[in-house]
Amino acid sequence: MQIAVLKEKRPYETRVAATPETVKKLIALGFSVTVEKGAGDSSQYPDSQYEAAGAKVAATPEKTLDKAKIVLKVLPPMTKKDGGEDEVKLLPEGTLLIGMLQPYVKAELIEEYNKRKITAFSLELAPRITRAQAIDVLSSQSNLAGYRAVIEAANALHRAFPMMMTAAGTIAPARVLILGAGVAGLQAIATAKRLGAIVSVFDVRAAAKEQVESLGGTFVEVESEESGDAAGGYAKEMSKDYKERQAAKIKEVIGKSDVVITTALIPGKPAPRLITADMVKGMRPGSVIVDLAVESGGNCEGSVVGEVVEKDGVKILGYANMPGRIPTDASAVYARNLLNLLTLCMDKDSKTLKINWDDEIIQAIALTHEGKTQNEKKGAV
Ligand code: NAI
Repeated sequence: MQIAVLKEKRPYETRVAATPETVKKLIALGFSVTVEKGAGDSSQYPDSQYEAAGAKVAATPEKTLDKAKIVLKVLPPMTKKDGGEDEVKLLPEGTLLIGMLQPYVKAELIEEYNKRKITAFSLELAPRITRAQAIDVLSSQSNLAGYRAVIEAANALHRAFPMMMTAAGTIAPARVLILGAGVAGLQAIATAKRLGAIVSVFDVRAAAKEQVESLGGTFVEVESEESGDAAGGYAKEMSKDYKERQAAKIKEVIGKSDVVITTALIPGKPAPRLITADMVKGMRPGSVIVDLAVESGGNCEGSVVGEVVEKDGVKILGYANMPGRIPTDASAVYARNLLNLLTLCMDKDSKTLKINWDDEIIQAIALTHEGKTQNEKKGAV
């Protein structure tokens, strides 16, 4: 059975959906693999390494997709509307397409998949259950995003992170505020602590407090009876009263912070606006904000996708695709997520694809199958 690995064409995308390591394992599982020329270049996996692992390298998307039964992608296929060549139209009818297909923002593609009878699996929809952890792309990517956000902030800051006691006097440690203590936030805490910063953290989910404290962060509390916990470990949107109390608290802490890293997301909704222009004004000159939610609307007023903006002496880093700024590792773990999913879908004896449609993981990630949308809610939000 033929697997095609396409080169990612969307802006800012540097990752690839298979690495030489996973290609070798896919071939051992019984697949043959064709990789589009240059697909791994930005992640530092040259074509020669794919060939050495047993893959064919094809010069064009058409040749890569020839006879493909499974297509591995990082992001949704391009359309004319996105300003590129129409990749959906190139997908052979009936293929299994696997990637981070962004059903909430790319809902229009669902119709295209149905028209071409494509079985589309969107891995961001994997359930938060132990058995699904090996295919949890949100975790594998957010973890690296949280790490990289701190590295970017440390690089942009004109101060040192650790306290230094020198003959010329003491340098105070940097103060880092992290908003949102999910996977990215927790890794950001760990990274900032390793660099020696003093870390304060805020999240609406009560469960986050213990995790923050176990990593050595100080949890900032908002006085309220309201809980932000929603199903599956995710957060819900908070009431107006809560948002006002939260804003007052953030304003108080932000003025003393050198670095703010925002990671707050609500699935299927725009990111909550946590930092206003007024709060930015209250920060010291030279401070740095990294808005990891910039592509979902942004947690910080004034952040711009793909840009570094300077407001009142404060740098607001709106880098798009933060995991893509550490692409070798981001691709490695993403490709393993896909390998783990395909392993789950294989019948080991006959070495053929056998999707178990009763499996809750498959039911959660399936967007379309045999011309029908599998779960209306996924595309309609
Ligand atoms: P996420 O990426 O959806 O959101 C990031 C963080 O922002 C969350 O912690 C959320 O509570 C927070 N947030 C949302 N609105 C906010 C607001 N107004 N103010 C401040 N913070 C706000 O979350 P992620 O990274 O997906 O993690 C959510 C939870 O799921 C975590 O507890 C994580 O440990 C858990 N998890 C469990 C897994 C499993 O059991 N297999 C796998 C991955 C994560």
